[in-house]
Amino acid sequence: MSLVFVINGPNLNLLGTREPDVYGHETLEDVEALCRDRARDLDLEVDFRQSNHEGVLVDWIHEARTLADGIIINAGAYTHTSIALRDALKGVGLPAIEIHLSNTHAREPFRHRSYLAPVVNGVIAGFGINSYALALIAMSELID
Ligand code: DQA
Repeated sequence: MSLVFVINGPNLNLLGTREPDVYGHETLEDVEALCRDRARDLDLEVDFRQSNHEGVLVDWIHEARTLADGIIINAGAYTHTSIALRDALKGVGLPAIEIHLSNTHAREPFRHRSYLAPVVNGVIAGFGINSYALALIAMSELID
């Protein structure tokens, strides 16, 4: 069975209480449960993680290199700032999908730039927690 790392970056631990008008009322635990449900349907195994620390996220991307078949990443604000995450994703060379709950292109201009988008297979943004489910479907196709 293929293993997919679902990596969540800064502030996503606050989901449910954080700006619910933008990010919805579901918690990160709800997102994890959704991922596990969808992964089961798709015959995928999910390793679901969250950290607020950029270096930890880099380490997890490196760890995926030997353990996982693909990476789904919501890097939060690091999407718009982190050359280190971009280099890590490019460096491991696994199938990778960048995701966002919100439609970052419909928000502030500083959210329009992603350092990760050029080095991933694709980007899914704006579907709330369903962005994770859509990414799992896309990842199962990429891995097959
Ligand atoms: C986000 C969008 C980012 O711009 C923001 O910094 C986040 C969440 C999203 O899922 O919509 O933390 O990645």
